[in-house]
Amino acid sequence: MCGIIGYVGNEDAQPVILDGLKRLEYRGYDSAGLAVLSGGTLTIRKRVGRLSSLEQTCAENPVQGSPGIGHTRWATHGEPSEVNSHPHTDTAGEIAVVHNGIIENYLELREMLEKEGFVFRSQTDTEVIPNLIALELRRDQKDFMGALSRALQRARGAYALGILWTREPGRIYAARQGSPLIIGVGEGENFIASDVPAIINRVTRVIYLNDGEMACLEADGIRLFNLKGEELKPDIQKVTIHAEAASKAGFETFMLKEIHEQPRVLHGLLSKHTSDRQDIAVDLSGLGRDYCRAINRVMIVSCGTAYYAGCYGRLLLELLLDINVEVELGSELRYRRAKLDPGTLIIAVSQSGETADTIAAVKKAKASGCRVLSICNVPGSSLVRESHAVLFTDAGPEIGVASTKAFTAQLMAFALFSLGLARLRGELSDEKLSRCLAELQKVPTHIHYVLSRKDAIRQIADKHHDGPSALYLGRRFNYPIALEGALKNKEISYQHAEGYAAGEMKHGPIALISEYLPVVCICTKTDDELYEKMMSNVREVDARHGRIIAVATDGDEAVRGLAGDIIYVPEIAEEFSPMVNVVALQLLAYYSAQARGTDIDKPRNLAKSVTVE
Ligand code: AGP
Repeated sequence: MCGIIGYVGNEDAQPVILDGLKRLEYRGYDSAGLAVLSGGTLTIRKRVGRLSSLEQTCAENPVQGSPGIGHTRWATHGEPSEVNSHPHTDTAGEIAVVHNGIIENYLELREMLEKEGFVFRSQTDTEVIPNLIALELRRDQKDFMGALSRALQRARGAYALGILWTREPGRIYAARQGSPLIIGVGEGENFIASDVPAIINRVTRVIYLNDGEMACLEADGIRLFNLKGEELKPDIQKVTIHAEAASKAGFETFMLKEIHEQPRVLHGLLSKHTSDRQDIAVDLSGLGRDYCRAINRVMIVSCGTAYYAGCYGRLLLELLLDINVEVELGSELRYRRAKLDPGTLIIAVSQSGETADTIAAVKKAKASGCRVLSICNVPGSSLVRESHAVLFTDAGPEIGVASTKAFTAQLMAFALFSLGLARLRGELSDEKLSRCLAELQKVPTHIHYVLSRKDAIRQIADKHHDGPSALYLGRRFNYPIALEGALKNKEISYQHAEGYAAGEMKHGPIALISEYLPVVCICTKTDDELYEKMMSNVREVDARHGRIIAVATDGDEAVRGLAGDIIYVPEIAEEFSPMVNVVALQLLAYYSAQARGTDIDKPRNLAKSVTVE
């Protein structure tokens, strides 16, 4: 969701900005723009649609000079149009701003600024920012930082800002409150960016700006301030990801590459958190051993795919521990009057660590005294900094908008955490632990096996992709996988899909079943009772001539007579089967999307990192 990049140094800013914007494309956008300061002259270029259109404009009419700022916009206030694209300037055209976030009180600010003689051209909330700064500069024309700080204290909401001022042609100003922004520290050049992958090819050191901080960047210096104008000491950190991790590595899309990375990612997590693969070694010291023993309730909070990982986490924690577990969407928990107290452990799950609703829910829970463990993929992200302890998913940059490897890594993180917590609380016998670890160790190989069947899965997708809708059914541990399979399909193929608990089918969705409806049934072997129940549901679909696509355990002949198409997967304990089964559904969605000709890595309207409410 909205990407920001800025460059100050000796090179021309335009190509650096365009390259950075390309690397930010995955966040989702509908228009793009840049501003370059050359001497005291500000040049702005904007285009609606894909970045290639801005690149073409810049190639036909290049701008020279530095510094520069660029932006990919994901529309919130006002339609995607050139006038609404960033950068926005003040009325005099001296201050250019790129913004990620939402200024909630922009209407009242705009009204006040209009009375002061400022003229607005766009429908955006952002346009109040340069004009507010210009208003504050009337007090002291030389103190830009002072004006910025006063302006920001009048704005309510979330922002990450990159700013140019024509009167200080060698500088970029930046500020952050609630939306992600980092500073890339170079040699004789410096950067601002929404995330590390945007500048991974240029820097090895970064500063993660905190909420309420402002920065002034020159080619050979960076100064940080709080909103009171007090100077702060920057905390420079080494970048831990490599440039190759953010490339397609020969795959046709990032998503396909990320699907294939899953065995390695899960194997890495397993090795990191098990000692000699015989015992569990999850570090719970951030929460405190005594606290872990005393937890009486767990509340998992997350959004989208990460919410489905949370649904899985609840089932596993309930299975292994004698503890109350709830799972809630970030966007709901933040407005609920849920009883939260210090005995409740919050587990926040997020790939990006920047999801506004999840972070808001976490802040609310912290205010009630809860401790927070986050399961997160991005070091230095806002969520990580809000948490008392972090279990990193170590999946590497996930560029495809549809989450794949981050999801299975979240499931594995839940498995490892649940085992670690159960062990610490004395709720898990040696024998049960060994059994669980032995099953978990099968996961990477089993995923390899599913990947090896991708041609068969592609053929199934080719048969069923053209219908208007699809239904996904699963039970217990595979109910969240039915939800996730349906979400994956919706996101990238734009085919409507619904995930349902199979037992709920007869309470409504059964009315949809006909020979035209593909019904994906996850009926891998579980304990006998649940498998039989699932098979009854499959029979109910069959009786109504639904087009059954079964995900079944290798060697299961009973399914053969019922399902028109079967994706066979290897046998594994039910509680760990989601990590394997979901890969089949990721591939099914992937090949449906390919057959439907969608833009798989950058599906329409979606943003990778949802940094606004
Ligand atoms: C996943 O495919 C989606 N694009 C989306 O649901 C995502 O999982 C959600 O926005 C949460 O993101 P997060 O994990 O970065 O918090």
